[in-house]
Amino acid sequence: MQPSAAKQKVIVLDFGAQYGQLIARRVRDLHVYSEIMPCDASAAEIAAEQPSAIILSGGPASVYADDAPKIDPAVLELGVPVLGFCYGHQIMAVTLGGEVAHSEVGEYGPAKLYVDEDAEAGHASALFAGTPAEQTVWMSHRDAVSRAPEGFVVTSHTDVCPVASMECPEKRLYSTQFHPEVRHSVYGNQMLSNFLFNVCGLEKNWTMEGLVESKVAEIREKVGDHRVILALSGGVDSSVVAALCSRAIGKQLTCVFVNHGLLRKNEPEQVEEVFTRQFDVDFIHVHAEERYAKLLDGVTEPEAKRRIIGTQFWEEFFAVAKQLEEDGRPVQYLAQGTIYPDIIESGARKTGGKASTIKSHHNLIPFPDGVSFDLIEPLDHFFKDEVRELGLALGLPEHIVYRQPFPGPGLAIRIIGAVSPEKLEILKNADAIVREELDAYNARLFEETGERNSEHSCWQYFAVLPDIKSVGVMGDERTYARPIILRAVESSDAMTADWAKIPYDVLTRVSSRIVAEVPGVNRVAYDITSKPPATIEWE
Ligand code: XMP
Repeated sequence: MQPSAAKQKVIVLDFGAQYGQLIARRVRDLHVYSEIMPCDASAAEIAAEQPSAIILSGGPASVYADDAPKIDPAVLELGVPVLGFCYGHQIMAVTLGGEVAHSEVGEYGPAKLYVDEDAEAGHASALFAGTPAEQTVWMSHRDAVSRAPEGFVVTSHTDVCPVASMECPEKRLYSTQFHPEVRHSVYGNQMLSNFLFNVCGLEKNWTMEGLVESKVAEIREKVGDHRVILALSGGVDSSVVAALCSRAIGKQLTCVFVNHGLLRKNEPEQVEEVFTRQFDVDFIHVHAEERYAKLLDGVTEPEAKRRIIGTQFWEEFFAVAKQLEEDGRPVQYLAQGTIYPDIIESGARKTGGKASTIKSHHNLIPFPDGVSFDLIEPLDHFFKDEVRELGLALGLPEHIVYRQPFPGPGLAIRIIGAVSPEKLEILKNADAIVREELDAYNARLFEETGERNSEHSCWQYFAVLPDIKSVGVMGDERTYARPIILRAVESSDAMTADWAKIPYDVLTRVSSRIVAEVPGVNRVAYDITSKPPATIEWE
Protein backbone atom coordinates (compact mmCIF):
# COMPACT_ATOMS: atom_id res chain seq x y z
CA MET A 1 0.00 0.00 0.00
CA GLN A 2 1.19 3.53 -0.74
CA PRO A 3 2.06 5.45 2.43
CA SER A 4 -0.52 8.11 1.53
CA ALA A 5 -3.19 5.43 1.22
CA ALA A 6 -2.46 4.18 4.72
CA LYS A 7 -3.17 7.68 5.99
CA GLN A 8 -6.43 8.19 4.12
CA LYS A 9 -9.31 7.36 6.40
CA VAL A 10 -12.93 8.43 6.39
CA ILE A 11 -14.57 8.29 9.81
CA VAL A 12 -18.32 7.63 9.88
CA LEU A 13 -19.86 8.93 13.11
CA ASP A 14 -22.72 6.59 13.92
CA PHE A 15 -25.85 8.25 15.30
CA GLY A 16 -27.67 4.89 15.51
CA ALA A 17 -28.65 4.68 11.86
CA GLN A 18 -30.46 1.62 10.66
CA TYR A 19 -28.17 1.36 7.65
CA GLY A 20 -25.24 3.35 9.11
CA GLN A 21 -22.77 0.56 8.54
CA LEU A 22 -23.58 0.76 4.87
CA ILE A 23 -21.97 4.18 4.61
CA ALA A 24 -18.51 2.93 5.59
CA ARG A 25 -19.05 0.03 3.24
CA ARG A 26 -19.96 2.30 0.31
CA VAL A 27 -16.85 4.41 0.95
CA ARG A 28 -14.65 1.29 0.98
CA ASP A 29 -16.34 0.13 -2.23
CA LEU A 30 -15.06 3.41 -3.74
CA HIS A 31 -11.55 2.32 -2.66
CA VAL A 32 -11.14 4.74 0.23
CA TYR A 33 -10.62 3.29 3.70
CA SER A 34 -13.43 3.98 6.16
CA GLU A 35 -14.27 3.08 9.75
CA ILE A 36 -17.17 3.77 12.10
CA MET A 37 -16.88 5.58 15.42
CA PRO A 38 -19.60 6.26 18.01
CA CYS A 39 -21.31 9.65 17.60
CA ASP A 40 -20.30 10.76 21.10
CA ALA A 41 -16.57 10.49 20.33
CA SER A 42 -14.91 13.79 21.25
CA ALA A 43 -13.25 16.02 18.69
CA ALA A 44 -9.87 15.11 20.25
CA GLU A 45 -10.57 11.37 19.92
CA ILE A 46 -11.61 11.85 16.32
CA ALA A 47 -8.63 14.08 15.54
CA ALA A 48 -6.34 11.39 16.96
CA GLU A 49 -7.53 9.11 14.15
CA GLN A 50 -6.30 11.71 11.62
CA PRO A 51 -9.39 11.44 9.43
CA SER A 52 -9.30 12.71 5.86
CA ALA A 53 -13.05 13.26 6.01
CA ILE A 54 -15.95 12.72 8.42
CA ILE A 55 -19.44 11.50 7.55
CA LEU A 56 -22.31 11.96 10.00
CA SER A 57 -24.80 9.10 9.68
CA GLY A 58 -28.56 9.21 10.03
CA GLY A 59 -30.29 8.16 13.24
CA PRO A 60 -33.76 7.56 14.64
CA ALA A 61 -33.90 10.42 17.17
CA SER A 62 -35.35 13.90 16.86
CA VAL A 63 -32.58 16.49 17.33
CA TYR A 64 -34.57 18.29 20.02
CA ALA A 65 -35.37 15.16 22.09
CA ASP A 66 -33.84 15.13 25.58
CA ASP A 67 -31.79 12.01 24.93
CA ALA A 68 -30.94 12.93 21.32
CA PRO A 69 -27.32 12.14 20.48
CA LYS A 70 -25.24 15.30 20.21
CA ILE A 71 -22.07 16.01 18.32
CA ASP A 72 -19.04 17.65 19.91
CA PRO A 73 -19.28 21.05 18.11
CA ALA A 74 -15.49 21.12 17.81
CA VAL A 75 -15.77 18.23 15.33
CA LEU A 76 -17.14 20.74 12.83
CA GLU A 77 -14.17 23.03 13.49
CA LEU A 78 -11.41 20.49 12.91
CA GLY A 79 -10.84 21.76 9.37
CA VAL A 80 -11.68 18.24 8.11
CA PRO A 81 -14.41 18.06 5.43
CA VAL A 82 -17.73 16.84 6.86
CA LEU A 83 -20.72 15.34 5.08
CA GLY A 84 -23.93 14.73 7.05
CA PHE A 85 -26.90 12.54 6.08
CA CYS A 86 -30.44 12.82 7.51
CA TYR A 87 -29.93 13.12 11.29
CA GLY A 88 -26.35 14.17 10.47
CA HIS A 89 -27.78 16.95 8.27
CA GLN A 90 -30.09 18.14 11.05
CA ILE A 91 -27.50 17.96 13.82
CA MET A 92 -25.08 19.96 11.67
CA ALA A 93 -27.79 22.58 11.13
CA VAL A 94 -28.74 23.02 14.80
CA THR A 95 -25.14 22.83 16.06
CA LEU A 96 -24.17 25.69 13.77
CA GLY A 97 -27.17 27.91 14.55
CA GLY A 98 -29.71 26.77 11.94
CA GLU A 99 -33.19 25.46 12.71
CA VAL A 100 -34.99 22.16 12.47
CA ALA A 101 -38.78 22.09 12.44
CA HIS A 102 -41.27 19.31 12.97
CA SER A 103 -43.15 19.05 9.68
CA GLU A 104 -46.74 17.89 9.32
CA VAL A 105 -45.90 15.73 6.35
CA GLY A 106 -43.07 13.22 6.60
CA GLU A 107 -41.19 11.89 3.58
CA TYR A 108 -40.57 8.15 3.44
CA GLY A 109 -39.21 6.33 0.42
CA PRO A 110 -38.42 7.76 -3.01
CA ALA A 111 -38.73 11.53 -3.44
CA LYS A 112 -38.17 13.86 -6.39
CA LEU A 113 -35.22 16.17 -5.65
CA TYR A 114 -34.74 19.52 -7.38
CA VAL A 115 -31.12 20.66 -7.46
CA ASP A 116 -30.80 24.43 -6.89
CA GLU A 117 -28.19 26.43 -8.75
CA ASP A 118 -26.19 28.89 -6.69
CA ALA A 119 -27.25 32.21 -8.29
CA GLU A 120 -23.93 33.88 -7.47
CA ALA A 121 -21.68 31.04 -8.49
CA GLY A 122 -23.87 30.19 -11.49
CA HIS A 123 -23.61 26.44 -10.97
CA ALA A 124 -24.94 23.69 -8.74
CA SER A 125 -23.14 22.25 -5.71
CA ALA A 126 -19.97 20.23 -6.25
CA LEU A 127 -21.86 17.40 -4.55
CA PHE A 128 -24.26 17.18 -7.50
CA ALA A 129 -21.61 17.35 -10.27
CA GLY A 130 -22.52 14.98 -13.07
CA THR A 131 -26.08 14.43 -11.80
CA PRO A 132 -29.33 15.78 -13.33
CA ALA A 133 -31.24 18.82 -12.04
CA GLU A 134 -34.16 16.56 -11.12
CA GLN A 135 -33.48 13.16 -9.63
CA THR A 136 -34.85 10.50 -7.30
CA VAL A 137 -33.47 10.26 -3.77
CA TRP A 138 -34.39 8.14 -0.75
CA MET A 139 -35.92 9.97 2.19
CA SER A 140 -36.89 8.79 5.66
CA HIS A 141 -37.77 11.70 7.96
CA ARG A 142 -40.45 13.77 9.58
CA ASP A 143 -38.40 16.65 11.07
CA ALA A 144 -36.58 18.79 8.52
CA VAL A 145 -34.11 21.67 8.44
CA SER A 146 -36.22 24.84 8.13
CA ARG A 147 -33.35 27.34 8.14
CA ALA A 148 -29.74 26.67 7.15
CA PRO A 149 -27.02 28.13 9.44
CA GLU A 150 -25.41 31.41 8.50
CA GLY A 151 -22.76 31.04 5.81
CA PHE A 152 -24.54 28.02 4.29
CA VAL A 153 -26.31 27.86 0.93
CA VAL A 154 -29.26 25.60 0.23
CA THR A 155 -28.38 23.37 -2.70
CA SER A 156 -31.55 21.34 -3.28
CA HIS A 157 -35.17 20.92 -2.18
CA THR A 158 -38.13 18.60 -2.59
CA ASP A 159 -41.85 19.40 -2.63
CA VAL A 160 -42.04 19.08 1.16
CA CYS A 161 -38.46 19.69 2.25
CA PRO A 162 -37.11 23.22 1.71
CA VAL A 163 -33.52 22.36 2.69
CA ALA A 164 -32.91 18.91 1.19
CA SER A 165 -29.20 19.71 1.12
CA MET A 166 -26.96 22.58 2.19
CA GLU A 167 -23.30 23.45 2.25
CA CYS A 168 -20.61 25.85 3.32
CA PRO A 169 -17.94 25.18 0.68
CA GLU A 170 -15.31 27.43 2.35
CA LYS A 171 -15.38 25.23 5.44
CA ARG A 172 -16.04 22.07 3.37
CA LEU A 173 -19.22 21.28 5.34
CA TYR A 174 -21.94 19.51 3.33
CA SER A 175 -25.14 17.76 4.28
CA THR A 176 -28.21 16.11 2.79
CA GLN A 177 -31.59 15.24 4.26
CA PHE A 178 -31.74 12.20 1.93
CA HIS A 179 -29.67 9.04 2.10
CA PRO A 180 -27.05 8.87 -0.67
CA GLU A 181 -25.78 5.55 0.78
CA VAL A 182 -28.99 3.76 -0.17
CA ARG A 183 -29.11 2.33 -3.69
CA HIS A 184 -32.58 3.85 -4.24
CA SER A 185 -30.95 7.30 -4.27
CA VAL A 186 -30.16 6.96 -7.93
CA TYR A 187 -27.10 9.26 -7.98
CA GLY A 188 -26.09 8.63 -4.35
CA ASN A 189 -22.88 6.90 -5.25
CA GLN A 190 -21.94 9.72 -7.61
CA MET A 191 -22.49 12.23 -4.77
CA LEU A 192 -20.34 10.20 -2.40
CA SER A 193 -17.69 9.99 -5.06
CA ASN A 194 -17.94 13.77 -5.71
CA PHE A 195 -17.44 14.40 -2.00
CA LEU A 196 -14.49 12.05 -1.56
CA PHE A 197 -12.57 12.84 -4.72
CA ASN A 198 -13.58 16.38 -5.74
CA VAL A 199 -14.29 18.04 -2.39
CA CYS A 200 -11.79 16.18 -0.18
CA GLY A 201 -9.24 15.47 -2.93
CA LEU A 202 -8.77 11.85 -1.83
CA GLU A 203 -7.32 9.12 -4.00
CA LYS A 204 -8.79 5.76 -4.90
CA ASN A 205 -6.06 3.68 -3.35
CA TRP A 206 -7.56 1.34 -0.85
CA THR A 207 -7.38 -2.31 -1.90
CA MET A 208 -7.51 -5.67 -0.13
CA GLU A 209 -3.75 -6.08 -0.69
CA GLY A 210 -3.30 -2.65 0.89
CA LEU A 211 -5.51 -3.67 3.78
CA VAL A 212 -3.41 -6.79 4.38
CA GLU A 213 -0.27 -4.68 4.60
CA SER A 214 -1.74 -2.03 6.87
CA LYS A 215 -3.36 -4.62 9.20
CA VAL A 216 -0.12 -6.60 9.37
CA ALA A 217 1.78 -3.40 10.22
CA GLU A 218 -0.84 -2.43 12.82
CA ILE A 219 -0.65 -5.83 14.54
CA ARG A 220 3.14 -5.82 14.48
CA GLU A 221 3.26 -2.36 16.03
CA LYS A 222 0.70 -3.16 18.72
CA VAL A 223 2.19 -6.52 19.71
CA GLY A 224 5.87 -5.61 19.68
CA ASP A 225 7.76 -8.61 21.00
CA HIS A 226 4.88 -9.91 23.12
CA ARG A 227 3.00 -13.18 22.72
CA VAL A 228 -0.54 -13.53 21.34
CA ILE A 229 -3.00 -16.39 21.60
CA LEU A 230 -5.63 -16.62 18.93
CA ALA A 231 -9.15 -17.94 19.47
CA LEU A 232 -9.34 -20.25 16.47
CA SER A 233 -12.56 -21.95 15.42
CA GLY A 234 -11.43 -22.89 11.92
CA GLY A 235 -14.12 -20.65 10.41
CA VAL A 236 -13.28 -17.97 7.87
CA ASP A 237 -13.08 -15.04 10.33
CA SER A 238 -10.68 -16.58 12.82
CA SER A 239 -8.68 -18.22 10.02
CA VAL A 240 -8.19 -14.82 8.36
CA VAL A 241 -7.04 -13.37 11.69
CA ALA A 242 -4.69 -16.36 12.08
CA ALA A 243 -3.19 -15.69 8.66
CA LEU A 244 -2.84 -11.95 9.39
CA CYS A 245 -1.24 -12.52 12.80
CA SER A 246 1.00 -15.26 11.53
CA ARG A 247 2.26 -12.92 8.79
CA ALA A 248 2.69 -10.09 11.31
CA ILE A 249 4.31 -11.84 14.26
CA GLY A 250 5.14 -15.40 13.15
CA LYS A 251 6.09 -17.61 16.05
CA GLN A 252 4.89 -15.14 18.69
CA LEU A 253 1.42 -16.47 17.85
CA THR A 254 -0.23 -19.54 19.37
CA CYS A 255 -3.55 -20.65 17.87
CA VAL A 256 -5.87 -22.15 20.45
CA PHE A 257 -8.72 -24.32 19.23
CA VAL A 258 -11.23 -25.00 22.00
CA ASN A 259 -13.23 -28.11 21.17
CA HIS A 260 -16.48 -27.73 23.09
CA GLY A 261 -17.98 -30.89 21.66
CA LEU A 262 -20.62 -28.86 19.82
CA LEU A 263 -18.96 -28.83 16.43
CA ARG A 264 -20.23 -30.40 13.25
CA LYS A 265 -19.46 -33.96 12.27
CA ASN A 266 -15.70 -34.48 11.61
CA GLU A 267 -15.00 -30.77 12.11
CA PRO A 268 -12.44 -30.93 14.96
CA GLU A 269 -10.33 -33.38 12.96
CA GLN A 270 -10.50 -31.13 9.87
CA VAL A 271 -9.50 -27.99 11.78
CA GLU A 272 -6.55 -29.78 13.37
CA GLU A 273 -5.48 -31.19 10.02
CA VAL A 274 -5.58 -27.77 8.27
CA PHE A 275 -3.81 -25.86 11.01
CA THR A 276 -1.10 -28.38 11.73
CA ARG A 277 -0.37 -29.43 8.15
CA GLN A 278 -1.19 -26.44 5.94
CA PHE A 279 -0.15 -23.59 8.25
CA ASP A 280 3.15 -23.13 9.97
CA VAL A 281 1.70 -22.01 13.31
CA ASP A 282 1.82 -23.08 16.93
CA PHE A 283 -1.45 -24.96 17.45
CA ILE A 284 -3.09 -26.15 20.68
CA HIS A 285 -6.21 -28.36 20.62
CA VAL A 286 -8.05 -28.00 23.94
CA HIS A 287 -10.39 -30.90 24.70
CA ALA A 288 -13.13 -29.16 26.68
CA GLU A 289 -15.99 -31.46 25.64
CA GLU A 290 -16.70 -32.80 29.12
CA ARG A 291 -16.53 -29.43 30.84
CA TYR A 292 -19.05 -27.99 28.37
CA ALA A 293 -21.39 -30.98 28.64
CA LYS A 294 -21.53 -30.50 32.43
CA LEU A 295 -22.06 -26.75 32.22
CA LEU A 296 -24.86 -27.07 29.68
CA ASP A 297 -26.65 -29.93 31.38
CA GLY A 298 -30.36 -29.03 31.61
CA VAL A 299 -29.91 -25.46 30.28
CA THR A 300 -32.73 -24.50 27.92
CA GLU A 301 -32.81 -20.71 27.60
CA PRO A 302 -30.97 -19.49 24.45
CA GLU A 303 -29.19 -16.50 25.98
CA ALA A 304 -28.20 -18.62 29.01
CA LYS A 305 -26.59 -21.16 26.67
CA ARG A 306 -24.76 -18.39 24.83
CA ARG A 307 -23.54 -16.85 28.08
CA ILE A 308 -22.30 -20.15 29.50
CA ILE A 309 -20.51 -21.12 26.31
CA GLY A 310 -18.94 -17.67 25.79
CA THR A 311 -17.84 -17.38 29.42
CA GLN A 312 -16.28 -20.83 29.34
CA PHE A 313 -14.39 -19.89 26.16
CA TRP A 314 -12.71 -17.11 28.12
CA GLU A 315 -11.93 -19.52 30.99
CA GLU A 316 -10.39 -21.99 28.55
CA PHE A 317 -8.25 -19.37 26.85
CA PHE A 318 -7.18 -17.99 30.20
CA ALA A 319 -6.16 -21.47 31.36
CA VAL A 320 -4.02 -21.86 28.23
CA ALA A 321 -2.47 -18.42 28.81
CA LYS A 322 -1.63 -19.38 32.40
CA GLN A 323 -0.05 -22.61 31.24
CA LEU A 324 2.02 -20.77 28.64
CA GLU A 325 3.13 -18.31 31.30
CA GLU A 326 4.23 -21.17 33.54
CA ASP A 327 6.22 -22.48 30.59
CA GLY A 328 8.01 -19.13 30.39
CA ARG A 329 5.98 -17.78 27.45
CA PRO A 330 3.70 -15.09 28.97
CA VAL A 331 0.73 -14.01 26.86
CA GLN A 332 -0.24 -10.33 26.47
CA TYR A 333 -2.98 -10.43 23.88
CA LEU A 334 -5.91 -12.51 22.68
CA ALA A 335 -6.78 -12.16 19.00
CA GLN A 336 -10.18 -13.11 17.66
CA GLY A 337 -12.22 -12.89 14.49
CA THR A 338 -15.00 -10.55 15.59
CA ILE A 339 -16.67 -8.95 12.56
CA TYR A 340 -18.93 -5.95 12.33
CA PRO A 341 -22.32 -7.73 12.28
CA ASP A 342 -21.34 -9.64 15.49
CA ILE A 343 -20.93 -6.30 17.23
CA ILE A 344 -24.14 -4.84 15.89
CA GLU A 345 -26.28 -7.84 16.84
CA SER A 346 -24.68 -8.23 20.26
CA GLY A 347 -25.70 -4.69 21.18
CA ALA A 348 -23.05 -2.53 19.61
CA ARG A 349 -20.14 -2.77 22.04
CA LYS A 350 -18.09 -0.36 19.97
CA THR A 351 -20.71 1.65 18.15
CA GLY A 352 -21.80 3.64 21.14
CA GLY A 353 -24.33 1.11 22.43
CA LYS A 354 -27.17 2.52 20.33
CA ALA A 355 -28.30 -0.76 18.71
CA SER A 356 -30.37 -3.29 20.66
CA THR A 357 -29.15 -6.79 21.61
CA ILE A 358 -30.49 -9.46 19.28
CA LYS A 359 -28.11 -12.25 20.29
CA SER A 360 -24.98 -12.26 22.42
CA HIS A 361 -22.27 -13.46 20.08
CA HIS A 362 -19.82 -15.74 21.84
CA ASN A 363 -16.84 -13.48 21.30
CA LEU A 364 -18.56 -10.46 22.87
CA ILE A 365 -19.59 -12.05 26.18
CA PRO A 366 -18.02 -10.11 29.08
CA PHE A 367 -14.96 -11.59 30.79
CA PRO A 368 -15.74 -13.59 33.96
CA ASP A 369 -14.19 -12.45 37.26
CA GLY A 370 -10.46 -12.93 37.34
CA VAL A 371 -10.11 -13.23 33.57
CA SER A 372 -8.86 -10.43 31.38
CA PHE A 373 -7.18 -10.04 28.02
CA ASP A 374 -6.15 -7.18 25.81
CA LEU A 375 -7.98 -7.94 22.61
CA ILE A 376 -6.82 -7.78 19.02
CA GLU A 377 -9.79 -7.76 16.63
CA PRO A 378 -8.53 -6.71 13.22
CA LEU A 379 -11.81 -7.49 11.43
CA ASP A 380 -14.22 -5.65 13.68
CA HIS A 381 -15.13 -3.08 11.00
CA PHE A 382 -15.77 -5.55 8.20
CA PHE A 383 -18.56 -7.59 6.71
CA LYS A 384 -18.32 -11.29 5.92
CA ASP A 385 -17.92 -10.85 2.17
CA GLU A 386 -15.11 -8.33 2.74
CA VAL A 387 -13.43 -10.79 5.13
CA ARG A 388 -13.61 -13.44 2.41
CA GLU A 389 -11.92 -11.10 -0.06
CA LEU A 390 -9.27 -10.39 2.54
CA GLY A 391 -8.77 -14.15 3.00
CA LEU A 392 -8.20 -14.54 -0.75
CA ALA A 393 -5.73 -11.63 -0.73
CA LEU A 394 -3.88 -13.43 2.09
CA GLY A 395 -3.69 -16.55 -0.04
CA LEU A 396 -5.91 -18.71 2.16
CA PRO A 397 -7.25 -21.83 0.43
CA GLU A 398 -10.73 -21.47 -1.09
CA HIS A 399 -12.19 -24.24 1.05
CA ILE A 400 -11.53 -22.07 4.10
CA VAL A 401 -12.45 -18.73 2.53
CA TYR A 402 -15.80 -20.01 1.29
CA ARG A 403 -16.75 -22.04 4.35
CA GLN A 404 -20.23 -21.17 5.42
CA PRO A 405 -20.47 -19.30 8.72
CA PHE A 406 -20.84 -21.41 11.84
CA PRO A 407 -21.73 -19.84 15.20
CA GLY A 408 -19.23 -20.01 18.06
CA PRO A 409 -21.79 -21.67 20.41
CA GLY A 410 -22.10 -24.37 17.75
CA LEU A 411 -24.80 -27.00 17.73
CA ALA A 412 -25.95 -25.98 21.23
CA ILE A 413 -27.99 -23.17 19.65
CA ARG A 414 -29.37 -25.47 16.97
CA ILE A 415 -30.72 -27.90 19.54
CA ILE A 416 -33.82 -26.28 20.96
CA GLY A 417 -34.09 -27.04 24.69
CA ALA A 418 -31.47 -28.88 26.69
CA VAL A 419 -28.43 -30.34 24.91
CA SER A 420 -27.81 -34.07 25.34
CA PRO A 421 -25.40 -36.56 23.75
CA GLU A 422 -28.32 -38.32 22.06
CA LYS A 423 -29.64 -35.09 20.50
CA LEU A 424 -26.14 -34.05 19.46
CA GLU A 425 -25.66 -37.35 17.66
CA ILE A 426 -28.95 -36.94 15.77
CA LEU A 427 -28.20 -33.35 14.80
CA LYS A 428 -24.62 -34.03 13.70
CA ASN A 429 -25.77 -36.83 11.41
CA ALA A 430 -28.70 -34.91 9.94
CA ASP A 431 -26.56 -31.80 9.48
CA ALA A 432 -23.88 -33.79 7.65
CA ILE A 433 -26.52 -34.89 5.11
CA VAL A 434 -27.83 -31.33 4.71
CA ARG A 435 -24.32 -30.07 4.05
CA GLU A 436 -23.45 -32.88 1.65
CA GLU A 437 -26.56 -32.36 -0.48
CA LEU A 438 -26.51 -28.55 -0.44
CA ASP A 439 -22.74 -28.40 -1.04
CA ALA A 440 -23.42 -30.42 -4.18
CA TYR A 441 -26.35 -28.16 -5.15
CA ASN A 442 -24.19 -25.04 -4.68
CA ALA A 443 -21.37 -26.62 -6.68
CA ARG A 444 -23.80 -27.24 -9.57
CA LEU A 445 -24.96 -23.60 -9.46
CA PHE A 446 -21.34 -22.43 -9.40
CA GLU A 447 -20.59 -24.56 -12.46
CA GLU A 448 -23.60 -23.14 -14.31
CA THR A 449 -23.18 -19.47 -13.39
CA GLY A 450 -19.48 -19.10 -12.55
CA GLU A 451 -20.60 -17.16 -9.46
CA ARG A 452 -20.11 -18.40 -5.93
CA ASN A 453 -23.01 -16.54 -4.43
CA SER A 454 -25.36 -16.53 -7.40
CA GLU A 455 -29.09 -16.00 -7.14
CA HIS A 456 -30.62 -18.98 -5.29
CA SER A 457 -27.33 -20.44 -4.11
CA CYS A 458 -27.39 -21.20 -0.41
CA TRP A 459 -25.22 -18.93 1.69
CA GLN A 460 -25.69 -20.82 4.94
CA TYR A 461 -27.48 -24.13 5.46
CA PHE A 462 -27.87 -26.46 8.38
CA ALA A 463 -30.18 -28.67 10.40
CA VAL A 464 -32.04 -27.63 13.55
CA LEU A 465 -33.41 -30.07 16.12
CA PRO A 466 -36.59 -28.80 17.80
CA ASP A 467 -37.72 -30.03 21.19
CA ILE A 468 -40.78 -31.93 19.99
CA LYS A 469 -41.77 -35.33 18.64
CA SER A 470 -44.39 -36.32 16.10
CA VAL A 471 -46.11 -39.47 14.92
CA GLY A 472 -45.07 -41.24 11.75
CA VAL A 473 -45.25 -44.64 10.13
CA MET A 474 -42.19 -46.61 9.03
CA GLY A 475 -42.29 -50.20 7.76
CA ASP A 476 -45.92 -50.48 8.86
CA GLU A 477 -44.94 -49.52 12.41
CA ARG A 478 -45.99 -46.40 14.27
CA THR A 479 -43.09 -44.10 15.12
CA TYR A 480 -42.99 -41.29 17.64
CA ALA A 481 -39.78 -39.51 16.81
CA ARG A 482 -38.08 -36.19 16.25
CA PRO A 483 -38.39 -33.83 13.30
CA ILE A 484 -35.43 -32.06 11.74
CA ILE A 485 -35.83 -28.52 10.50
CA LEU A 486 -33.88 -27.56 7.44
CA ARG A 487 -32.66 -23.94 7.45
CA ALA A 488 -31.04 -22.61 4.27
CA VAL A 489 -30.68 -18.93 3.42
CA GLU A 490 -29.52 -16.62 0.68
CA SER A 491 -27.51 -13.66 2.02
CA SER A 492 -24.25 -11.79 1.62
CA ASP A 493 -23.56 -10.48 5.10
CA ALA A 494 -26.02 -12.21 7.50
CA MET A 495 -27.55 -8.83 8.41
CA THR A 496 -30.54 -9.71 6.25
CA ALA A 497 -31.38 -13.04 4.64
CA ASP A 498 -34.07 -14.79 2.65
CA TRP A 499 -34.94 -18.47 2.66
CA ALA A 500 -33.25 -20.24 -0.23
CA LYS A 501 -35.45 -21.28 -3.14
CA ILE A 502 -34.04 -24.79 -3.31
CA PRO A 503 -35.51 -26.98 -6.10
CA TYR A 504 -38.02 -29.60 -4.94
CA ASP A 505 -35.88 -32.54 -6.07
CA VAL A 506 -33.03 -31.38 -3.84
CA LEU A 507 -35.40 -30.87 -0.91
CA THR A 508 -36.85 -34.33 -1.52
CA ARG A 509 -33.41 -35.94 -1.45
CA VAL A 510 -32.42 -34.12 1.75
CA SER A 511 -35.64 -35.19 3.42
CA SER A 512 -35.62 -38.82 2.36
CA ARG A 513 -31.95 -39.28 3.20
CA ILE A 514 -32.32 -37.78 6.69
CA VAL A 515 -35.36 -39.92 7.54
CA ALA A 516 -33.76 -43.06 6.11
CA GLU A 517 -30.24 -42.58 7.49
CA VAL A 518 -30.66 -40.86 10.87
CA PRO A 519 -32.21 -43.05 13.55
CA GLY A 520 -34.70 -41.19 15.73
CA VAL A 521 -35.95 -38.84 12.97
CA ASN A 522 -39.25 -39.36 11.15
CA ARG A 523 -39.98 -35.96 9.60
CA VAL A 524 -38.23 -33.00 7.91
CA ALA A 525 -39.64 -29.46 7.72
CA TYR A 526 -38.26 -26.47 5.78
CA ASP A 527 -38.06 -23.03 7.44
CA ILE A 528 -39.39 -20.48 4.92
CA THR A 529 -38.88 -17.28 6.93
CA SER A 530 -36.65 -14.39 5.99
CA LYS A 531 -34.48 -12.28 8.34
CA PRO A 532 -36.07 -10.05 9.51
CA PRO A 533 -38.52 -10.98 10.99
CA ALA A 534 -36.77 -14.26 11.93
CA THR A 535 -33.03 -14.66 12.44
CA ILE A 536 -30.84 -17.17 10.63
CA GLU A 537 -30.15 -19.34 13.67
CA TRP A 538 -33.05 -20.53 15.79
CA GLU A 539 -31.55 -19.42 19.11
P1 XMP B 1 -28.56 -14.67 13.26
O1 XMP B 1 -29.04 -15.97 13.80
O2 XMP B 1 -28.42 -13.63 14.30
O3 XMP B 1 -27.09 -14.98 12.75
O4 XMP B 1 -29.32 -14.20 12.07
C1 XMP B 1 -26.32 -14.14 11.93
C2 XMP B 1 -25.03 -14.86 11.57
O5 XMP B 1 -24.20 -14.95 12.72
C3 XMP B 1 -23.92 -16.31 13.02
N1 XMP B 1 -23.93 -16.38 14.49
C4 XMP B 1 -22.81 -16.38 15.22
N2 XMP B 1 -21.53 -16.33 14.85
N3 XMP B 1 -20.91 -16.38 17.12
C5 XMP B 1 -20.58 -16.36 15.81
O6 XMP B 1 -19.39 -16.35 15.48
C6 XMP B 1 -22.17 -16.41 17.58
O7 XMP B 1 -22.43 -16.43 18.77
C7 XMP B 1 -23.18 -16.40 16.56
N4 XMP B 1 -24.53 -16.42 16.61
C8 XMP B 1 -24.97 -16.39 15.31
C9 XMP B 1 -25.02 -17.11 12.36
O8 XMP B 1 -24.61 -18.43 12.09
C10 XMP B 1 -25.27 -16.29 11.11
O9 XMP B 1 -24.33 -16.56 10.11
